[in-house]
Amino acid sequence: MNLELTEEHLMIRKAARDFAQNDLKPGVIERDELQKFPAEQIKKMGELGFLGMMVDPKYGGGGMDTISYVLAMEEISKVDASASVVMSVNNSLVCWGLENFGTEEQKQKYLVPLAKGEIIGAFCLSEPEAGSDATSQHTTAIDAGDHYVLNGTKNWITNGSTASVYLVMAQTHVEKGHKGINALIVEKGSPGFTIGPKENKLGIRGSDTHSLMFTDVKVPKSNRIGDDGFGFKFAMKTLTGGRIGIASQALGIASGAYELALQYSKERKAFGVPISEHQAIQFKLADMATEIDAARLLCLKAAWHKDNKMDYNLSSSMAKLFASRVAMETTVEAVQIHGGYGFVKEFHVERLMRDAKITQIYEGTSEVQKIVISRSILS
Ligand code: CAA
Repeated sequence: MNLELTEEHLMIRKAARDFAQNDLKPGVIERDELQKFPAEQIKKMGELGFLGMMVDPKYGGGGMDTISYVLAMEEISKVDASASVVMSVNNSLVCWGLENFGTEEQKQKYLVPLAKGEIIGAFCLSEPEAGSDATSQHTTAIDAGDHYVLNGTKNWITNGSTASVYLVMAQTHVEKGHKGINALIVEKGSPGFTIGPKENKLGIRGSDTHSLMFTDVKVPKSNRIGDDGFGFKFAMKTLTGGRIGIASQALGIASGAYELALQYSKERKAFGVPISEHQAIQFKLADMATEIDAARLLCLKAAWHKDNKMDYNLSSSMAKLFASRVAMETTVEAVQIHGGYGFVKEFHVERLMRDAKITQIYEGTSEVQKIVISRSILS
């Protein structure tokens, strides 16, 4: 693994950093407070190519590698994790899933506008009674000849009301367990498809999280992804890459909080000197910097495995497990370094601390990552 970034990587990182600082930072506190979706900013992210970064240019994407994606995700997450989760879901779950397993017709119809950022997508696996235990799908897709009839409820869906295209996992053959699950492409506006109210969340409050209800929704058979019964494998394979995206988000939340704490520690004086001259603060900064670097290396290693067509199941779960823990610990310490100022919104670190928590929950909790890691090392 070559640890040196290419000129292209550095350019992408700079473009993401400039966008985050110039377009996302102004208004991020207000969007968090009001739970306002960053609609204009997401539109611009699409125009800049951040929503379909890794998709082949022949389908409207940027044709970039996963390392570029990690770098961009870190920069954008430093400033606005509500925007970066949209980017992560669209790139890793929706575009990647369609590009790798969709038919040519599905790619032309759905992937092209998704990769160009003209529309965004959602990935619908979680249910009221199927979170970590994703095989227990209660949503059903009954075979009715040339279409499926979809019934059920999905929970905690990112881009729930803003997406145009939804990849929905549903059980077709109950007796076959997870081998009877299908992944279906459902369009917004399909009769019988309704969207519940927006969730009022602890963190990533600007992102758009909803329950979705399906009542006798007709989905053409041509909208099934892969062979009959491929849906669970589709979800698992897709989430394996998604975990690199969320690990990078956690990394960005941690490094954003660290940079703010570092800067503050040089400006804030106590006992006659900048607090960065006190060993109590220096030790915190040293720990934060070391852990962030380790998290970054794990994210880049998983990306490198993926780019080099190696197995990245273990490395992506390790990256997500570790980076999300670092995000939590670093943001708590960043608030501590800021003292009372850390507890108020204008200093940003309290928001980063709230945003960090979700990285230990979505796309597989930390406990799920430990299941994946322990199975891999024991097998
Ligand atoms: N790649 C390919 N196939 C995989 C796989 C992977 N990474 N992981 C599992 N599979 C396959 C297995 O090989 C097995 O196939 P066979 O039956 O043919 O052998 C099948 O899937 C079932 O696997 P398991 O027996 O390992 O399944 P399990 O019930 O023990 O579950 C689990 C394993 C890791 C806990 C899994 O259920 C899981 O990942 N749960 C978490 C789900 C999750 O991440 N949800 C996130 C929702 S999406 C989201 O959050 C998006 C968002 O909005 C931000």
